[in-house]
Amino acid sequence: MKIKEIIFASHNAGKIAEIKDMLAPMGITVHSAEEMNLPDVAETGTTFAENSLIKSQTIAKSTGFPCLADDSGLCVDALNGAPGVYSARYAPNRDFNKGMDLLLSEMEKSGNPSRKAHFSCVVSLAYPNGEYHLFEGRVDGYIAHEKMHGEGGFGYDPLFIPEGYDCSFAQMNHDEKNKISHRGRAMSKFKEFIASL
Ligand code: IMP
Repeated sequence: MKIKEIIFASHNAGKIAEIKDMLAPMGITVHSAEEMNLPDVAETGTTFAENSLIKSQTIAKSTGFPCLADDSGLCVDALNGAPGVYSARYAPNRDFNKGMDLLLSEMEKSGNPSRKAHFSCVVSLAYPNGEYHLFEGRVDGYIAHEKMHGEGGFGYDPLFIPEGYDCSFAQMNHDEKNKISHRGRAMSKFKEFIASL
């Protein structure tokens, strides 16, 4: 089913601009949930795939347009995969500076010396008729002992050092991060799929 118009289930201006830029050359017009005044869909699932699909399927059904959604988070080995799907809610009042402090202190308290972690992202594409496709991306790395701030980044970026690098995600520019990031990898698979239609 060739797609001409799609709704992106997001209220995040940065993500919306990124998706519009990415899909415009493919002849796809993106309308965001923000522009369409659609309410936030509650993320009631327990996996990234479930939450991503809850968002895309709810909006595809209510609007009659294909819908793209993503769900992502940071999984830390020493914390048995936490904060995972709860990454956004883990930060007190969505203050990621406090969220990162909390993460470091919980890791210390765990007594587990492992610094291993990964970011995961599941992008979903849902059609109004219930058909859907999932695209997954993951990047492995380590949690730094202290925040490594740079010019860019958001969320837990200052604490995440991707495997094979000695700088944090926050110290990379957008293009560098997108090439290896969980979201970048999931979106490449999505773009390949769209190109194949
Ligand atoms: P969501 O996918 O928009 O629900 O994001 C979940 C949460 O995971 C975000 O609020 C961030 O805390 C965290 N997160 C997801 N992707 C990244 C990333 O690339 N860098 C840093 N934090 C991220």
